[in-house]
Amino acid sequence: MKKFNDIKGFIFDLDGVISTTSNLHSKAWQEIANEVGTKWTKELANNLKGVSRMDSLNLILKSGNQNHNYTAKQKKYLTDKKNSIYLRLVNQLTPYDVLPGIKDFLESLIRNNYLIALASASKNSSEVLKRLKLTRFFPKIVDPSTLKHGKPSPDIYLEAVKLLKLNPEQCAGIEDANAGADAINAANEISIGIGNKDILKQADIVFSNTEKLTLDNIKKFTTII
Ligand code: BG6
Ligand code: MG
Repeated sequence: MKKFNDIKGFIFDLDGVISTTSNLHSKAWQEIANEVGTKWTKELANNLKGVSRMDSLNLILKSGNQNHNYTAKQKKYLTDKKNSIYLRLVNQLTPYDVLPGIKDFLESLIRNNYLIALASASKNSSEVLKRLKLTRFFPKIVDPSTLKHGKPSPDIYLEAVKLLKLNPEQCAGIEDANAGADAINAANEISIGIGNKDILKQADIVFSNTEKLTLDNIKKFTTII
């Protein structure tokens, strides 16, 4: 039984939870998909959410039935290319790209003495937070390059718990992606999904958008799950 009163820390995904950057990842991957001749579909775009850079490329190649046609060197070229397209888009980010309600939610967490950590698969998260002017809220950021397994494995959420010096049952994770919600569940934390509840079926609680992400709303749900 997961209870609101046990929660002492909130662990955030970045892309698609804090900012609109999941759209920028999608845009950049779509260019790569075109280059390798993989058909871009809504389902593919959804499956890439939360997934590391190389794993994303592998999913794109697999979806076009060509996972064996590329050498490690060619894959490195393609992931580097995706990242430079993405970074060009990130360059244009401003605090207006923070999703609605997120800054208020972060401020309410600080006021109520909750601990906060970032569990993003992105190696660009510090740069993104800087552009959004949110760095001060995230003194604890898991470095995804230190992890053995990416989402949906629990590694990143377990590492965040360690950084916060809490137990998993004392933490709630917030995710917009299936891979991310699976990772939170596998880490035995409360999973809060942002998006469509018919897609984020595995999450303990789902809010249709970030504006609904408030301590009061979370409390309402965690007394019944
Ligand atoms: C996740 C995104 O947060 O980070 C994925 O949802 C992305 O789309 C992954 O592939 C890795 O990001 P980066 O910036 O290291 O390529
Ligand atoms: Mg995400």
